[in-house]
Amino acid sequence: MKLKYLEEINSTNSYCKDNILNLEDRTVVYTFVQTSGRGRFARKWVNLGKDNLYLSIVLKPSSVLMPVYSNLTQYTSLILAQTFMESGVNPKIKWPNDILIDGKKISGILAETVFKNGELKGIIIGVGINLNADAKDFLQIDKLVTSLNIELNKTVDKIEFFERFINKFFDGYDLFLKEGFMFIKPKYEQFIDFLGKEITINNLDEKIVGIAKEITNDGAIVINDKKFFTGDIL
Ligand code: BTN
Repeated sequence: MKLKYLEEINSTNSYCKDNILNLEDRTVVYTFVQTSGRGRFARKWVNLGKDNLYLSIVLKPSSVLMPVYSNLTQYTSLILAQTFMESGVNPKIKWPNDILIDGKKISGILAETVFKNGELKGIIIGVGINLNADAKDFLQIDKLVTSLNIELNKTVDKIEFFERFINKFFDGYDLFLKEGFMFIKPKYEQFIDFLGKEITINNLDEKIVGIAKEITNDGAIVINDKKFFTGDIL
């Protein structure tokens, strides 16, 4: 693993995209000041002051990575949930990969691929983590959000959290590449609470309503006997 700290950047994901050819496999680019963070579905990821964490993990394609590529964000969400749990809170994973505390979002993941001349050059796993936000900063966000300092009622050591998260990520990474989603499924399921309940997911432009029956061995969610690999629980 290689670490690259940037004092300030528009977006760590954009930085990795622009520099993909010069960044080695398993490089982690991180900052505490991100001025134009991007979220899923072309949303923004707001900068919440200089004590929060914005990072991107660069992974380079290889024959072992390709089979598990679509489950990388689920692997990342599990590692995040475990890291939060060790910090003393009770996180839930909102399929496929948001992290919530009491229904409020504390962390999000944006995975992007970079192609050059039709060839996959890298996969970027971008993670935004609210560690030390001020509740009034949330007024600019039209969603239920929280931050670890608010949940714990104390200031969070951002470096300690960052190191614990990233070490845990790479400690299990090789085994995850080898074994795939099956290897993490039981642990992933400990952090979800919607199985057996009626949910609505947004899949492309379609809304699907039904009982969430199971998470399959390849990480899809089964609703009304149909498998979905992408989408968002509403
Ligand atoms: C989401 O929940 O919509 C995903 C948010 C991902 C935000 C992170 S912050 C670090 C990295 N750089 C970005 O521009 N976005 C991701």
